[in-house]
Amino acid sequence: MNGFTNCTKRFRRLGAVGAAGLLLALTACAENAPQTTFEPAGPVARTINNLANPVFIVAGIVFLLVQGLVVVAVVKFRARPGDDGPEPRQVHGNTRLEVGWTLIPALILFAIAIPTIKTIFDLSHTPDNALNVTVIGHQFWWEYRYDDLGISTANELNIPAGVPVSLTLESVDVIHSYWIPALAGKTDVIPGRTNRMHFEADNPGTYLGQCTEYCGLSHANMRALAIAHTPAEFDAWVAAQRAPAVTPGSSSAAFEGLNLFNAKGCAGCHTVAGVSQGKVGPELTHLYSRTTFAGSTLALDEENLRLWLENPPGVKPGSLMPNLGLTEEEITQLIAYLETLK
Ligand code: CUA
Repeated sequence: MNGFTNCTKRFRRLGAVGAAGLLLALTACAENAPQTTFEPAGPVARTINNLANPVFIVAGIVFLLVQGLVVVAVVKFRARPGDDGPEPRQVHGNTRLEVGWTLIPALILFAIAIPTIKTIFDLSHTPDNALNVTVIGHQFWWEYRYDDLGISTANELNIPAGVPVSLTLESVDVIHSYWIPALAGKTDVIPGRTNRMHFEADNPGTYLGQCTEYCGLSHANMRALAIAHTPAEFDAWVAAQRAPAVTPGSSSAAFEGLNLFNAKGCAGCHTVAGVSQGKVGPELTHLYSRTTFAGSTLALDEENLRLWLENPPGVKPGSLMPNLGLTEEEITQLIAYLETLK
C-alpha cells in the first residue's frame, strides 16, 4: 500500500516536471516573430531551410530514441527497496552492439553530408546579375555603399525584390555579424577582412535582422533592416538618393539648425552632401527617406530624435556620438534642419 502511494507521488512529480518542460518549450513559439528562420522570404534562405528541416527531423528522432532508452534503463533497472540481493551481472564489451552503434551514426552522418555539401556549393555561387552593395559594420550601425550607383545610406538596406543582391562585408572597428534571417544565413563582418554573401527577396517587404556577434555595449541595439521594393520603386529610391541636399532658406528654424550642425561638430562626423564630409557617423543627406535611426532601433520621428539628441549614449549605450549638451531650442532647430533632409 505504502509502495503504491510512493509510486503515485513519484509519477505526479514526473508529470509536473514534464508539464513544466512542455511549457518552457511552448514559450519558444511566438505569433509575431519577424526574425524567425522558419519563414524564408527568398531563395537563399529557402535553400538553407530545405536543408535544416530534414536534418532537424533526423536529429529529433535520434534525440528521442537515445533519451527514451536512457529513461527506460533508469526506470527499469533502478534500485528498489528491499533489493539486497547480489550485484547484477557485469557486462564488458559487445562486438555486435559496438559495430552497430558506430556504423549506424556514420551512415546517418554520411546521408546528411550529401545534401549539406550540395547546399554549400549551391550557395557559394553568386548570380551574375546581382546588385553590389558594400556593407560596413560600425559600433553600432550599418553603412551601405552602392558604389555602382554612386549612393550610400545607413541602417536600412534598400533592395529591389526579385533581384539577387551581392554583399561585400567589411568592418571599421570590431567583429560584427550580418543576419537577416528571412533572407539568408549570417556572415561575420571582420575588420581587415572582406567577406561576401548574397541573397534575394521574393517580394517587396520589410525584413528585420540583427547584428549577431557581440560587439560592445549596444550590440543588442544594432539592428539590420532590409527593405525590398518593386524594381520601379527601387529606381525611384535611387534617384531620390542621388538628389542633392536641400539648403534651407535663411531666417528659418532649419537654417539655424544648419548653422548648429556646423558649429556643434555634427559636420565632423556626418556627411550631408554639399555641406559636410564626416565619415564617423551615418550619412544624413537623405535621412528622412528612412523610417528608422540609431541602429534601426528607433522610428524616425521628432519625439525620438529629441530623445536621441538630448543624450545619445543614454539611448544607445556606448554610442560614439557624445552628449553635446544641447539646449531644448537648439534641439528644435537641429530637428527642423534634419527634417529638410528628405
Ligand atoms: Cu555589431 Cu554586435
